[in-house]
Amino acid sequence: MDDFKIKNISLAEQGKEKIEWASSRMKVLSLLREMGKKEKPFNGITIAACLHVTSETANLMIALKESGAGVYLAPSNPLSTQDDVAAALVKFYEIPVFAIRGENRQSYYENLREVASRKPHITLDDGGDLTAYIHENGLFEEILGGTEETTTGVIRFRAMERDKALKYPIIAVNDSRTKYLFDNRYGTGQSTIDGILRATNILIAGLRFVVAGYGWCGRGIAMRARGMGANVIITEVDPIRALEARMDGFEVLPMEEAAKIGDIFVTATGCKNVIDEKHFYLFKNGAILANSGHFDVEINVRKIREIAVSQRKIRDNVEEFILENGKKIYLLAEGRLVNLGAAEGHPPEVMDLSFANQYLAAKFILENRKKLENRVYVLPPEIDEEIAKLKLKSLGITIDELSDEQIRYLRSWREGT
Ligand code: NAI
Repeated sequence: MDDFKIKNISLAEQGKEKIEWASSRMKVLSLLREMGKKEKPFNGITIAACLHVTSETANLMIALKESGAGVYLAPSNPLSTQDDVAAALVKFYEIPVFAIRGENRQSYYENLREVASRKPHITLDDGGDLTAYIHENGLFEEILGGTEETTTGVIRFRAMERDKALKYPIIAVNDSRTKYLFDNRYGTGQSTIDGILRATNILIAGLRFVVAGYGWCGRGIAMRARGMGANVIITEVDPIRALEARMDGFEVLPMEEAAKIGDIFVTATGCKNVIDEKHFYLFKNGAILANSGHFDVEINVRKIREIAVSQRKIRDNVEEFILENGKKIYLLAEGRLVNLGAAEGHPPEVMDLSFANQYLAAKFILENRKKLENRVYVLPPEIDEEIAKLKLKSLGITIDELSDEQIRYLRSWREGT
């Protein structure tokens, strides 16, 4: 196979070990892979994927290939690619990958073109860039449907659906309960702290740790930062979520107030310029900024670079900026997803759930291709529950079942029956 673009094929051995390690902790996906090997549900189907090139994603790609699909992989972020994993996919699994860590914008889009031009039947997306590229370039002829992994991508596709711009159905994998309750919360919670620690090696205990956004990601980050002894402050724009944060025991402040007292700031909102120029001058000397939202727009990085009187890289994934007022601020992973830029992304145990959803969403598209319209769908609750059941089983956990009497009671509207 010579149709790929990776950094260095000699990294393949190391990548293979990483893939196997992740596989050993992804029990539900392994089960689907075993079934797929026998049943070959994706025979004759081409799948173009735009996902973070990590060891967990590798396992999804392998499962789909062994289930009969032709798969092509591009990265969903220029900083998240694990070059050894990309090499292993090419060398040992013959999966064409177009990804090199740290690529520029132009080559990022070339990668999208590579996978989009293979006449895919199904697209797997994380953030919506591949699907948007396919729409902008009219490459949707053969496509039966696509999936979307993250909140930000789902928001983009719902906007396309509203504008009647969507040319094929999308399954919002993010909106399965077995996805956002675990991946966004526990996955982002742990891996964001992991990214911050790998980049900085700071002590979290005793810090004023500001989390922007109390959504599924934000509450995971806040929970884990508190667990490590930080004093957590939440900023929000949604009154209900702000209230939840308060009742969960966190301090809630507007960013302009939090900026004055925080030691470290993490954005997880899906929104733009949440940390902006007006905040930069309010920061304490030495404030650390990181982002865990999908796009690198949550911190106004361009503005920091513009106004800083000096800047230098002080550690891997840490840039130091000195402002006119003499204060220093530190930016992690260029303001891109810190958990993927400075660490390895989510642990395999949660990606097991997310990628079981991706696999079954692709299968759902095939099985329902005649019925689906050009809309955004959520997987049926039966599939969501089946994934949870399989995960519980793999963990050796059994739960109670409703008795017939209890089912009758719950279904009845008559008093006391
Ligand atoms: P969510 O919709 O559950 O939560 C976002 C929260 O941010 C909401 O409560 C919203 O009110 C709040 N918010 C919006 N604008 C704000 C502002 N200007 N200031 C303060 N709060 C604001 O979304 P979720 O699932 O938590 O995702 C957040 C972002 O993280 C998205 O971009 C998503 O794609 C991304 N994501 C990143 C992951 C990672 O690996 N780092 C994993 C999963 C999602």
